[in-house]
Parts: sequence; structure tokens; C-alpha cells
Amino acid sequence: MHDYVIFLHAVDAQTARSAAVIRDHCAHLDRLDAEGRLIAAGPFADSEAGGLIVGSFPDLQQAVAFAQSDPFVKRGYSRAQVRRWEWSYPENGHLGIVDPFPGSHPRFLNSLHLRATTRHFSPRPIAHELVELLVAAALAAPSEFNLQPWRPVVCHSSTDRQRLQRCCRDQVQVSAAALAVVCAVDPRVFEDQAPRAADELILHGERSPEQRDETIAFIRSCFVNPQDSAIRNGTIFGHQLLLAGLSRGLAGFWLGGFDQDALHQEFGLPTRAIIAGVIGLGWPSELNHPRPRHTMEQLVGWGHWPGA
Ligand SMILES: Cc1cc2nc3c(=O)[nH]c(=O)nc-3n(C[C@H](O)[C@H](O)[C@H](O)COP(=O)(O)O)c2cc1C
Repeated sequence: MHDYVIFLHAVDAQTARSAAVIRDHCAHLDRLDAEGRLIAAGPFADSEAGGLIVGSFPDLQQAVAFAQSDPFVKRGYSRAQVRRWEWSYPENGHLGIVDPFPGSHPRFLNSLHLRATTRHFSPRPIAHELVELLVAAALAAPSEFNLQPWRPVVCHSSTDRQRLQRCCRDQVQVSAAALAVVCAVDPRVFEDQAPRAADELILHGERSPEQRDETIAFIRSCFVNPQDSAIRNGTIFGHQLLLAGLSRGLAGFWLGGFDQDALHQEFGLPTRAIIAGVIGLGWPSELNHPRPRHTMEQLVGWGHWPGA
């Protein structure tokens, strides 16, 4: 996929645009948006009529085809000009910085709405290099005091995924996915690595060296219920892994239906290890539509318990 800019230059600015053609033009854009490929669109707001569309297309031909099938162009209101375009990021060597946060991307929000649990996959494997990229992205997740208590067990080979499936109530999606990861957490980290976490805070000037002992005690006091903390931190890791996969065209699932004891035994996890869940990822063989959600009014309270 590449990004393209489509300039719609007004051919006949005098004739009023009919409401039906404007509606069709919007529907044309909506279809691109529904596939998560519309980056920006809107009319020019100065004296020259026309508009701009920025979208992602596999190649120039398909970008041109999209532009030519725009109802404004078909109706003769506009002439389309298509240019290949790239975001400016520090990472891609362009000098300009579009946004102060280089990780922002307008399609990211849309991707969150398009995600749907997927349990059927093509047999195509995920290259080891990509698995490493995804796991590295998951390890960039936030954790309490940056303690990084995750100890994931990556099941990439078919044998490992089958071993895992047997610990997951034999749910077949586990071995069908090209990658499955047990999101395990070592709660001992909360106790043992509190001094290191305190030193990190001191290093970054958030605490003074004199406050080291009280900071260590404070950090430990935040983990009175290590089970809860382990699940919390492990879940964040897992979901970051799932979203990292989506960013590369993979689809997958969360799985909570597993047998803790069987998993501990099969993969040699220490008794103290806590498992937040299992994530599966693969190349989808089905396109699932996002499942319905309750309304914001039903679920969200603004300054009070929802519905109270
Ligand atoms: C923590 C968690 C555990 C889940 N466990 C299972 C599971 O064991 N088996 C399964 O088929 N789906 C499992 N799911 C998937 C849910 O059924 C699915 O997320 C839900 O139906 C909403 O669908 P969506 O993810 O497509 O929006 C789990 C989801 C979550 C978040």
C-alpha cells in the first residue's frame, strides 16, 4: 500500500453541485474509509473550488481508478490529478515533521474500530523476523513502574502450538493461528526489582537519591495484590501484541479459556507465574466484521457510575 493525494480541480465552478451527486461522492469516500484506507478528505476553503483526498492504494492505477470513479469526476464537475505522497516522519528521513508525536497515525483510530476476533486462518506462516518485530512492539507496552514483569512463552512452531492447544480446552484456533503467545507474568518482579525501579526514577530525576529507601518501600506497597497487578500488566502486553499484528495485516484473538495447571506443567512455568491470557495471530482466511457494541450512553458515566 502507498499513499496518494487526489486533487479534484473544479472544471465548472458555476454550476451548483446537486445534492444527489454530493451524497454519492461522500458514499464513495465512505467505502474507502470503511476499509481503513481514507486518510483525509475535504474541499478547498479558499476562492478556487475543488477538493483534496488522501488515501492508501495498492498502486497508482488503483488510485487513478478511484479518482476517475468519483461522482464529481464522472459528472464532469471536477478533473482529477493523482500524486504519490508520503508522510514526513523523522524515521523516513524527510525533514518535515507533520505531528509533534511521530507515532501518531490517522488510520490507527480506524483500525481499532475495524478489529474483530478472528479464529480462521490461512496456513501461510509468519516469518521469524516479523514475529520478533511484533514481540518487540509488545515489549514496548507500559508496565507499572516500568518493571516489565512479562515472561511470554512464544509458540511459533506447529508442534508448540499444538502443545498449547491441548492446554486451551482444545480450542482449534490455537494451532490454526501461525503464532500463539502465552502472556505470562512473573509477580516476583514486583518485589525483587523494586530497587531497580527506584534507581530508574532517581536516574530520571523523579526522586532524589536520599529518597531511595522510601521509594523502594512505596513501590512494594503498590503491589499488595500481585495477582491483580500481574493480570493487569500481562493483559496490556497481550493487547499490544494483538494490535501490533493488526498493523501488519494479521488478525487474531484473545483466549482466556485455558487450564492454568496444564500450561504451567507443559511449558515448565514456575508455580508463581500468572497467565493473563493467550494471544493468537495469523493471516486471516475470513473477513470478520466488527461485532456490535453497547452504546456509549449504556456503558459510560461522565463523572459518576454509568446510569446512576
Ligand atoms: C480476556 C478475553 C478472553 C477470551 N477468551 C476466549 C476464548 O477462550 N475462546 C474464544 O473463542 N474467544 C475468546 N475471547 C474472544 C471474545 O469472545 C471476543 O473478543 C468477543 O466476543 C468480542 O468480539 P470481538 O473481539 O470480535 O470484538 C476472549 C476475549 C477476551 C478479551
